[in-house]
Amino acid sequence: MPHLPLNRRDFLAASAAAGLGAAIPPPDQSATRQLPPTVSELLFRAPPIPLVRIGFVGLGGQGSVHVENLLTLEGVEITGLCDIVPEKVAAWQRKIRELGRPEPAGYDRGPRDFERLCAEPELDLVFNATPWEWHVPISLAAMRNGKHAATEIPLAYTVDECWDLVEAAEKHRKHCVMMENCCYDRLELLGLHLARQGLLGELLHGECGYDHDLREIKFSRQGEGLWRRAHATRRNGNLYPTHGLGPIAQAMGINRGNQFDYLVSMGGNSRGLQLWQAEHLAADDPRRRERYVLGDVNVSLIRTVAGQTIFLSHDTNLPRPYSRKYVLQGTRGLVEGYPRRVYVEGRSQPHRWDSGDSWFERYDHPLWKSEKVRSVAGGHGGMDWLEDWRLITCLREGLPTDQNVYDGAAWSVIGPLTEWSVANRSRPVRIPDFTRGRWKETKPLGIIEA
Ligand SMILES: NC(=O)c1ccc[n+]([C@@H]2O[C@H](COP(=O)([O-])OP(=O)(O)OC[C@H]3O[C@@H](n4cnc5c(N)ncnc54)[C@H](O)[C@@H]3O)[C@@H](O)[C@H]2O)c1
Repeated sequence: MPHLPLNRRDFLAASAAAGLGAAIPPPDQSATRQLPPTVSELLFRAPPIPLVRIGFVGLGGQGSVHVENLLTLEGVEITGLCDIVPEKVAAWQRKIRELGRPEPAGYDRGPRDFERLCAEPELDLVFNATPWEWHVPISLAAMRNGKHAATEIPLAYTVDECWDLVEAAEKHRKHCVMMENCCYDRLELLGLHLARQGLLGELLHGECGYDHDLREIKFSRQGEGLWRRAHATRRNGNLYPTHGLGPIAQAMGINRGNQFDYLVSMGGNSRGLQLWQAEHLAADDPRRRERYVLGDVNVSLIRTVAGQTIFLSHDTNLPRPYSRKYVLQGTRGLVEGYPRRVYVEGRSQPHRWDSGDSWFERYDHPLWKSEKVRSVAGGHGGMDWLEDWRLITCLREGLPTDQNVYDGAAWSVIGPLTEWSVANRSRPVRIPDFTRGRWKETKPLGIIEA
């Protein structure tokens, strides 16, 4: 496997010499980055915050789900609301006022008004659910102003920006949490639970992905249609790796006793958005002039330093029912998603699947046993509520968060690295070690109790 040069200048020289063209280099900067963290920094605890004062940025589809959830939690006050659309800010201010709570301050003076929000002294956490390009500027502004940051997925989509967030979190000693809700879904937590109890044996393999027909959403005149399709005009790789990968990485102990080592990625033809363009848009629609480069199906393979293999897919431009795939396989059995089923040698009938439901009955993860979770209908069937509740619980109790900045960086950096590998005939690329070696001494995430 070729070793990538350590800095961008060397890389450009080497890639020009090798005739690799203009592909964006993903330098593995792990060895050149300073300030190696201690294990206690890796599993960072901030002083407890009994009442968490939150500024929320991005009140669209997913932001509204979080705000709804946060309003159900004890020990939370939403003190600021920010969006570039003033009507969205006003609508949420009104709803909160009608609940008999103090009305949050509004920040609606344009795309950088989050800076004014982040500078507010009476604020603990800046939580954003904005388009991808804003996750890094908002999280950095939060931490530089002494606030914890929580962001929707992905944490960042360039290698450099993943490092920027890691370094900012270390420098300012603030949490920077990527909110990967799929880590809290019932099947993924069952997988974690079975893995931690040793029922799957030694973990050897994972399969996961984000396989979701987003054509209508990408061409919508509102919501994600305003920004998500644009990525398909300039990027070709796995643009959304963390839904599938986060839960597998947690089970395999990535950053906690294990590390991603390297990946290869391959992208095929780009057809789905072009067909939609031709078949659904009026002849004079300017979106007909857009040219897409995103391969409809991206497949990547990751190997961990412990020798496990992970298959990861991204498939969002073709007609298909939703799937995140999910396979967690060990020497004794496996858990699968879509459909949900389990096989454990010695407990299942030989060569026969058990239904997921029969395993939920006996082995549901403690977080899913709570009545509160099951009664929450909104937000992807309860997992979004669980992730918000866990974040707030950790902040209130001064605990390390379930996902930290190193996890967010390791899972998100897969996106730009797949782009590089696709652009370079699927060459292998090393995955940076954001912990700079500390993963070796860090214990895997345990079973999280309710
Ligand atoms: N975890 C999940 O299951 C899940 C589901 C959907 C979306 N998401 C993520 O949530 C984020 C938002 O997605 P969405 O579907 O809610 O999109 P959306 O377009 O519905 O919402 C984005 C909101 O951000 C606002 N906004 C844009 N730029 C802004 C800025 N500079 N400052 C303040 N507000 C700004 C927009 O006006 C809009 O209200 C994305 O990162 C997406 O990947 C995650």
